[in-house]
Amino acid sequence: MGRIYDFYERRIFPRVLDRTMRALNDLRTPTLASAHGDVLELGFGTGLNLRHYPAGVTRLSTADPMDALPETVEKRIAAAPFPVDVHHLPADGRLPFAPAAFDCVTVTWTLCTIPDPVAALVEAARVLKPGGSLLFIEHGRSQDPSIARWQDRWNPIQRVIGCGCNVNRQIDEIVRRAGFNLTRLDRFLAPGLPRLVGEMYRGVALRS
Ligand SMILES: C[S@@+](CC[C@H](N)C(=O)[O-])C[C@H]1O[C@@H](n2cnc3c(N)ncnc32)[C@H](O)[C@@H]1O
Repeated sequence: MGRIYDFYERRIFPRVLDRTMRALNDLRTPTLASAHGDVLELGFGTGLNLRHYPAGVTRLSTADPMDALPETVEKRIAAAPFPVDVHHLPADGRLPFAPAAFDCVTVTWTLCTIPDPVAALVEAARVLKPGGSLLFIEHGRSQDPSIARWQDRWNPIQRVIGCGCNVNRQIDEIVRRAGFNLTRLDRFLAPGLPRLVGEMYRGVALRS
């Protein structure tokens, strides 16, 4: 999209992302509470989930094409109590993991951005053990039709400033379309955020 946007995407956006995503830290621990064993995280970002995984996690593998704030991320990984294998790969492509390799898959505020989120979750299901769980928290489409209309209007702007982020995706539908069995879904407005971007979907889904 041009050199200025390229500069924004590579140099400015990762800093903005880290700062804005830190504001959501309180929501991470409850989302990741049942993570255990070998975990795959889709959309690792700047590693903000690392401090929020519970004691039962033994290893974390990641899939995110962006190499954001590498020095900061390296420090966060060094402080983690489990090994972390970073893969700079899109989650909506073929992942370099064997079928049923993971106990758990996590994804936080990333299904909004992955170009093909259903394909990413189908691939996540492939590498998840039968009965394994997908833990997620995402922002997405409002249940209020007037807010949803505003989200549709705002979305083209959000995609530019948020480097591909969409505000109007129906997250529970994406999870179901990928073949997961949604066992828990909490819908709420994140404190302090406008409804355009603050309509949260937090849940647990099982690989069928
Ligand atoms: C809003 S950030 C969330 C980062 C992190 N999950 C968090 O909770 O702070 C969205 C993330 O999605 C990642 N992303 C974009 N396209 C992706 C893809 N195809 N596969 C995996 N991750 C992707 C971005 O690089 C970015 O790190």
